[in-house]
Amino acid sequence: MSRLIKWEKEGAIGIITINSPATLNALNTQVLAQLDECIDEVEKEESIGVLILTGEGKAFVAGADIKEMLPLDAKQGEKLGANGSRIFRRLETLPMPVIAAINGFALGGGNELAMACDIRIASEKAKFGQPEVGLGITPGFAGTQRLPRLIGPAAAKELIYTGKIIGAQEAKELGLVNRVVAPEELMDVAKGLAEDILKNSWNAVALSKKAINDGLQLDIESAMDLEAKIFGECFLSPDQKEGMSAFVEKRSAKFNHSRRKA
Ligand code: CAA
Repeated sequence: MSRLIKWEKEGAIGIITINSPATLNALNTQVLAQLDECIDEVEKEESIGVLILTGEGKAFVAGADIKEMLPLDAKQGEKLGANGSRIFRRLETLPMPVIAAINGFALGGGNELAMACDIRIASEKAKFGQPEVGLGITPGFAGTQRLPRLIGPAAAKELIYTGKIIGAQEAKELGLVNRVVAPEELMDVAKGLAEDILKNSWNAVALSKKAINDGLQLDIESAMDLEAKIFGECFLSPDQKEGMSAFVEKRSAKFNHSRRKA
């Protein structure tokens, strides 16, 4: 089987590359299956503290595979949507932060994949959009759910109803991406951000991710209860003693970096 998803390790950074540039990394059944398998492997790697996701060639991902979707019936369409959403949710709930390094087109399922990541860094060349309504379908890999949560319902509705493709700067103004950088700097900026995260307690970063993601699904009172519980859990970890001792002793903390399990 050809490697439609490549993955490598650079120190404590895992880098996943969607590698099907001839079709602009369109997400067909095989690409999705290999991404699913790749997430299995990443989950087993205790030595990865941050993951970067990017695309080979001029696209990040140009969406779900339109040619593959053309003959589907309603049942098959539903199954495809549920499968893509399940895989993206796995990425979203990995214990380590996931940074999308968006090198080019992030359309339809591509924008939905980027939104399942924790942080989005975009090249000046990147383009974003949910063009599905022009194909007679709705966004199907949780775009109707994550886009309004991320940029608010009014802006999300405008993007989804018009199917408009926007540039990286406009995506930044909408809050869809964190930063826009020159194309040649994209991976260095993403890796620099990963290194800044990796200096901290991996346990505390993973718990922060959980508190933010799970808390956003709750009312504020329940979310504060969840935060208090997670905050308390930090005090079980040697990282809390080390981090605070280092402060008191006026030295740098030396965390024993090992990732907590999902
Ligand atoms: N599915 C299947 N093939 C795709 C594809 C897709 N989403 N996007 C690009 N390709 C293929 C093209 O068919 C072409 O292959 P052939 O040479 O064999 O025809 C190849 O990739 C290169 O693409 P283009 O020649 O079109 O490249 P371009 O630079 O002229 O245009 C583009 C780039 C504007 C991104 C254009 O390819 C495009 O509009 N792609 C489709 C974008 C889209 O509508 N995405 C949403 C898909 S639906 C979805 O994602 C549903 C969901 O929510 C789950």
